[in-house]
Amino acid sequence: MTTGNGETAWLSTAVGTSWTPPEIDFTKPQTARMYDYFLGGKDHYAPDRETARQVEKVWPTVSQAARGNRLFMNMAVERLAKAGIDQFLDVGTGIPTSPNVHQIVQREQPGAHILYTDHDPVVLAHARALMNSTEQGRIDYIQGDLRRPEGILGHPCLAGPEPVLDFGRPVALTLLAIMHFITHEDDPERIIGTLMDPLPSGSHLILSHITDEYAPEQVEATARLYRSQGLPAQARTGKQLVELLDALGLELLPPGVLPVSRWTPDISDEPPTPLYTDAEASLVGLIARKP
Ligand SMILES: C[S@@+](CC[C@H](N)C(=O)[O-])C[C@H]1O[C@@H](n2cnc3c(N)ncnc32)[C@H](O)[C@@H]1O
Repeated sequence: MTTGNGETAWLSTAVGTSWTPPEIDFTKPQTARMYDYFLGGKDHYAPDRETARQVEKVWPTVSQAARGNRLFMNMAVERLAKAGIDQFLDVGTGIPTSPNVHQIVQREQPGAHILYTDHDPVVLAHARALMNSTEQGRIDYIQGDLRRPEGILGHPCLAGPEPVLDFGRPVALTLLAIMHFITHEDDPERIIGTLMDPLPSGSHLILSHITDEYAPEQVEATARLYRSQGLPAQARTGKQLVELLDALGLELLPPGVLPVSRWTPDISDEPPTPLYTDAEASLVGLIARKP
């Protein structure tokens, strides 16, 4: 099967079928496929690559930042799994890139349950085809829009006698490199608040986010490029993220809000040495806890 660009469609290799979900648009760039390009993946098309290459011109280290984001995810998820969290709600999953959240969690907690959510049907099809759980564990994938968190919470897989996540026990909500696609008008406080509200004390939030505080021109030019393609883009400062956590009543855990380049596996009391500059990263990560 080929697309309008003459490229072999992802689905034939991913699941061995020529079926294509009708709502997939290969003619416009999508954030998941651009991110896959930045990470060196193969699941992107000409419009994704064209826009991604324009981003690389204004933010030459964007690929390094994307890889740094994955490393941050790895460390933060592993930290919570080691602390005993065995239920994860991941919104904005992205095209599978190993290790994925469930692989990190189920190394520590083989029986862990993970619910993956993304609004992009390409992501969901890839995820269903490629991501398998441990025998004891469980993974579900649902299509959902973060801007409508009630739709995610109201999904049938979270209801009935065997919901994928048990809201009677702590859950980690992972919002990795997605909240910068949520504008102020979309009301990030309402969105995160709605998702955290049913979760019990001891639940956590892992968040990574593009920030404009270290290289404002580079990040603003990137945001303009996304917006010119109809993709929402909103950088935020670390201070704004802390204010958001405060408004939500969440406790920021050490080491605080740090550029992903400063999140190293051996974070201790010493300020970590960055692997590359804060401006090159321009993406911060944090872990917070619901008291
Ligand atoms: C930059 S990728 C990040 C992927 C992964 N979380 C990571 O950090 O490696 C952003 C993902 O968020 C998804 N996304 C963007 N806006 C969304 C929304 N409103 N609702 C659900 N998913 C969204 C995109 O489809 C994409 O897969």
